[in-house]
Parts: sequence; C-alpha cells; structure tokens
Amino acid sequence: MNKTAIVRCEHFNAAHRLHNKIWSDTKNKEVFGKCNNPNYHGHNYDLKVKVIGECDPDTGYVIDTKILSDLIKEKVLDRFDHKNLNLDTEEFKDLNPTAENIAIVIYKLLKAELSSQFDLKIKLYETPRNYVEYPY
Ligand code: NI
Repeated sequence: MNKTAIVRCEHFNAAHRLHNKIWSDTKNKEVFGKCNNPNYHGHNYDLKVKVIGECDPDTGYVIDTKILSDLIKEKVLDRFDHKNLNLDTEEFKDLNPTAENIAIVIYKLLKAELSSQFDLKIKLYETPRNYVEYPY
C-alpha cells in the first residue's frame, strides 16, 4: 500500500453576506454581526484540495497536478472567483455562504469529477486565522 496525499493550493476572492431569510433583521444582526452587512463584504479565500490515493506504479503520481489544477479551475475558481456568492452563484442562492458551506459545496463539485479510487479533503481558509475542513 502506497497511499499518499497530494495537496493543491489555490486562491479566490469572493463577496458574501451571511443571512437567514426566516429570521428578523435584528436576529440576523445579532447572530452574524458584521458578516450580515446588507451591502456584502469580501474575503480572500485560500483553498487546499487534498487528494488521497495509491501512487500509480507507472507515473509515480497519485494524480497529475495539471489534471487536478485544471479541475479546480474549471469547477471552483471559474464559478466563484470575483463573484458575489449570494447573488452570482446558483449554489448559494438558498444556502448561507459560510466557510463551512462553501467547503462542502467545493467538496461535492470536485468529488463528482474524481474517480472513486480517490479520497478527497477540503481545507478552506476564510482568514489566515480561521479555516474549515470537510470532511473533518
Ligand atoms: Ni464574511
């Protein structure tokens, strides 16, 4: 068994607003604070995509990093980079764009494209001090 993890680091910028439609404005402000700002705010997201699998005996790769980076660009960066997540994306029209939910959405987008022989883990930094992991 030569299971190894390869990690691709990527970056995107996006705006969002944390808001729960079924709550009052007061409750939204109480719970989400500055992140509930009606006119949105931006983050510089750092994304680490970890693919775990057997090293291919012919190439010595778990997965070709070019294939992985093209996949992340097509499925994640082209979709979310320089976008307003609430207004510009289907994924967050009815889903609060917290770092947790963004990581889960990214996982699902990439998992659907990867061969089932791979395990996938997403780490998403919303700030240098706050990040989420999915699956944990
Ligand atoms: Ni925020």
